Amino acid sequence: MFTNNHHEDFRHGKRREFIKNGVLLGTLTGIAGMNLLSGCSREGEEGISPAEDLMREHGVLRRITLIYDHCHVSLANGSSFPPDVLNNAALIIRNFVEDYHEKLEEDFLFPRFEKANHLPDLVRVLREQHSAGRTITGSIIDAAGKAEWTDDDKQKLSRLFEEFNRMYRPHAAREDTVLFPEIRNVFSENEYADLGEEFEKKENQLFGEKGFESVVEKVAGLEKQLQLYDLGQFTPAVS
Ligand SMILES: [Fe+2]
Ligand SMILES: [Fe+2]
Repeated sequence: MFTNNHHEDFRHGKRREFIKNGVLLGTLTGIAGMNLLSGCSREGEEGISPAEDLMREHGVLRRITLIYDHCHVSLANGSSFPPDVLNNAALIIRNFVEDYHEKLEEDFLFPRFEKANHLPDLVRVLREQHSAGRTITGSIIDAAGKAEWTDDDKQKLSRLFEEFNRMYRPHAAREDTVLFPEIRNVFSENEYADLGEEFEKKENQLFGEKGFESVVEKVAGLEKQLQLYDLGQFTPAVS
């Protein structure tokens, strides 16, 4: 069991030595250990940079594109999927990706790049794609809410999945590899730190203290309903 001394040492930044000595992992069996773990995770979250924050949000977006792919293939081969899974996936895109993640980009990042006339063509296209994405998501939510789908509805949904994924895969990849690495060139060191706090504050306001984790849990639940959760299923049989 942990003693208070261990805890004090941990709190004073000796976490690495504990892990290296195998003490931490070897003894985390009781309630004290659980408290220690949750304290550790809170400490880590505060240190997340704005770019890392935005990139892990892209991970949520990518997981939903997998769900859309699955729905698209199911429509093509005539198999079914629960419509509420689609509705919930589209609502995560609306509430988390569009109204939170993209709003951060639009309110905090894009204006700064525009003012500095840095990557203006890229930022213009990114803004246009956010707008197109919102239109597509609106149509997916409308279609998902219908009691029954006609062949026309299914064709329309298939087109929407295709358009959404085709646009967002390069959109997120371009932000990850071109826009986000340039954030530090349009913000000072202090502004960059403030930006991280601002992002964290917004996330807490909208989704609670463990906002990101709760959204990831929701996505995992949808993946489980579609049998997409087991990551190992995507490993090819190579010999
Ligand atoms: Fe974006
Ligand atoms: Fe983004």
